[in-house]
This record gives sequence, structure tokens and C-alpha cells, in this order.
Amino acid sequence: MRQQSSNLLQKARQYEEEKKKNISVEERPVFHVSSPVGWINDPNGFSEYQGEYHLFYQYHPYTNHWGPMHWGHSKTKDFIKWEYLPTALAPDEDYDHAGCFSGSAVEVDGKHLLMYTSVEERELENGEKEVRQRQCIAFGDGVNYEKIEQNPVITADMLPEGSSLVDFRDPKIWREDGKFYAVIGSRHADTSGQIPLFSSEDGMQWKFETILERCKNEYGSMWECPDFFQMGEKHVLIASPQNMVAKELEFHNGNNAIWLVGTYDKEKKQFVRESVKSIDYGLDFYAPQTMETSDGRRIMIAWMQSWDTYMTPADAKWSGMMTVPRELTIKNGKLYQLPVREMEQYYTNTVEMKQISMENETKQFDSIKGRVLDFCVEIEEGEYEQFSIQVAKNDSFYTEISYEPKKQELVFDRTYSGIDRDILCRRAAKVESKNGKIKIRILLDRYSVEIFVNDGETAMSNVIYTKKEAEEITFTCEGKAVFNLKKHEIQIEE
Ligand code: FRU
Repeated sequence: MRQQSSNLLQKARQYEEEKKKNISVEERPVFHVSSPVGWINDPNGFSEYQGEYHLFYQYHPYTNHWGPMHWGHSKTKDFIKWEYLPTALAPDEDYDHAGCFSGSAVEVDGKHLLMYTSVEERELENGEKEVRQRQCIAFGDGVNYEKIEQNPVITADMLPEGSSLVDFRDPKIWREDGKFYAVIGSRHADTSGQIPLFSSEDGMQWKFETILERCKNEYGSMWECPDFFQMGEKHVLIASPQNMVAKELEFHNGNNAIWLVGTYDKEKKQFVRESVKSIDYGLDFYAPQTMETSDGRRIMIAWMQSWDTYMTPADAKWSGMMTVPRELTIKNGKLYQLPVREMEQYYTNTVEMKQISMENETKQFDSIKGRVLDFCVEIEEGEYEQFSIQVAKNDSFYTEISYEPKKQELVFDRTYSGIDRDILCRRAAKVESKNGKIKIRILLDRYSVEIFVNDGETAMSNVIYTKKEAEEITFTCEGKAVFNLKKHEIQIEE
């Protein structure tokens, strides 16, 4: 292990320390992880270490755009109140000079083991560029991390013949029955994604086991950021496919995140897929990663941004947020996601209203407004054409969530949220209601709107950058409806 922190790491740490001071807490989300300064993408190394939860992320501190990847770092005791830690990894070795790409973490004998993808680029004698992505390890104490001398520990020549030597990234490591396992994003000879499984006795020496699942050019092309875990009787494989093509409301164009639910034969190391679905139906959700807490909960977090629809305002001091961490459960083979229960500790000014009747009108309530809220609208069975909720609203702007029971469609629309670019603003999701009865929970945190329908059956994550003064909320009903409303403000003491 190297003893000295590299210059690149010191530079990033000093830079973020200085710049962070110029960003007030009011300029950030309250309970979502946001970039310390500059750009972040994928969550990495989401893990419990010495009783606290750590989250790293793809990080380029120097601009609001993607650049040579570092690992930024935050930690929390409860998934809601986060603390920044110094940059953990910089691309400071020959083998990772072109970036420390995504990866994951586990605790091993009191040390924090990070497994990440190193990217090396070199020019060949014929002038062509050769790119190699390989898996590497760093050990740390929760603040400082050192890359090991044996790096890289997993290389693409360990894969079946024909697999890409270039696209081989985003290892997700876990421990099971005294061994280490990792799934990694890779590309089959047919040019689309495959998910190899590797195992290790000590976390350092790795062996190829099998190809767990393949895209076969059916769900996008390359599969990035895999994850694999048990939920009840089932196993879940997560992947983030690139270049998907829309299929009704299930998959949209571009980068998606999907979960494949199936069964896993541990002995034969065989995964048998039963269903494939989008994880989130909003505009901003990619590269989710999960961890298991010591009390047995499976928690998922994702990058709350789209690769294609970049909408950070030109004068922003930071770019990129994570979703709220979500607890996953499974019922009848179907996955549900809800914000972590720890959120409830931060509820204040709770307001509950019951049996509000609406008939072809718009209503607004003095006590229901703000930009940092968790509120739930429960519409009872009834005859209505459309029910819509406008949030982050003032005389000029609003963002709308509307539901049409006949179509069974929930639509998120940020067209009038104050965006000054021609980017995608509307997305619809299929949701089920019986005679119009539906539960819509909305989480607002200054720059985001996350929606959870029917206790987490469907989720939609979205970013908005509407000025903070726009904090009104209105409810409009076409037809006749009765609904119940519960609102909590969320407050975190500094
Ligand atoms: C996904 C991704 C990963 C890669 C990282 C680079 O968003 O492309 O596959 O490791 O981002 O920042």
C-alpha cells in the first residue's frame, strides 16, 4: 500500500474544502445528498462501516460537468442527515489515471474495502487509443483510503472469450457464507450487456464463476452498475442499461434502470428471470445501488439525474443529487420502494385533513405549502376525470402531478417549472387504482419531486430548479372527488 496521499487527492480535498464554504445550506437540498462542489453521478460504496452508513459517488469537483472521476464521500447515521467527508479516491495511479469509475464497499476485519473500476487509456504505436477497465481495491478507515499494490485484481481476460476488454465496470461486492462475491457490468460478444459473477476467499484473489444474466440486445445495450441480492424467496438483479428504446410506458429512451426478479439456485449459480421492469418512472433516476442494514433492511439509493437531460442552472455551485434512500420490500413477486422510515424522526408541523370534497374546482390550504415536505394525498373511490396537484408554484411557475383514473396514468410535468432549456419535462406512468381510489405520496426537497404511489408500488423521481419562493400547492379536480391529506414538514437541526 502506498503511504502518502497523492497530490491529486490533496488538490481535490483542498479545493472542495475551500469551495464548500461558499455554498450555504439554504442553497442545497435539506435531506438529499448533493454534490459537495462540482459534478456528481452514480452512488458508489453504499455500505455500513463501523456502525455508520457511508456513501461515495462519482465526482468531478472542478466543474459542473463530468470529468476525470474521483470518489466523493459522505456519511450518515440515519440516511437523512448527511455529513461530508474528504474526497476518498483520486485518479492518481497509472492504471486509473483516466478515472476511478463506479464500485462498491464492504467492511472487512474493521477495515473498509472499496472495489472500484480503474480506467487506463494509452496510445498504441499505430496511433489508436486503447482503453482498459479493470477492478481495483482500496482499504481505508472511513476517511483515508489506500489503493493496494496488487491492483488490478479482476481483469477482462478472466471473462469468457469474446467479452469486451473495454466495457467492464461497476463491481458490486458483497459477503455471503464466509466468501466474497461480485457482479460486474460487462459486454458480451453480441455487443450487449452481460453480468458475470466472481467469487473470492479473501477479497483480493478473484475467480470467474458464471454469467448470471444477459441482455441479448433486448433491454438496451451495455448494462452498467449491476446489483444482486435476495428478497424473500426471490432474487433481484439490478442493471442500468444504456441506449434503451421506449416500450409503451414501461421503458423510455436512453439510460434506464431495471430490476429483474427471479429465482437463484445457489449451488448451480443459476439465476432464472421471471420479470423485468423499470425501477422508477420519473425523469431523473439512474445507477441505483443497494445495501443491507444490520437490522436486515434492503436500502436503495440512486443518482437523481438523467444523462441526457442535464438541467443544472448555469450559475449553480454544485451539480447532482441522490434520491432519498428507499426501503425495498417484495409482495407477490412485486417490488415496492418507500423512503426510509428514519424520515419520520424529522417530521414537524404535521397537518392532517380528512374528507375534503372537491367538484370541478381548485383548492389551496394555508397550512399546505413549502418546498421541504412529505405529503400524502389519498383520493377515495369516486367519479372524477382528473385530479391534479401543482407544487413549487407561484404566479409564474408550477410543476404538476396529475392522475386520470380512466387511463390509469399518472403524469409528472415540469414544463412550467422555470426551465429555460428545451429538454424533456413530462413523463407518464401506469398506476393502478380501483374506482379512482389512489394514494399519492410526494416528497419535496427544494430541487426535487419524488412520487410514491400506492405505498411504493410505483415511484417517479424528478429534479426541478424552480426558485425557492415558489412554494404554493394547489389541488384541482375535474369531476367529483373526496380526499384525505397529510403533510409533514421536514426539518434538520444543524
Ligand atoms: C454510469 C457510469 C458507470 C461508470 C460511471 C463513470 O452512470 O457510466 O458505468 O462507472 O458512470 O462516471
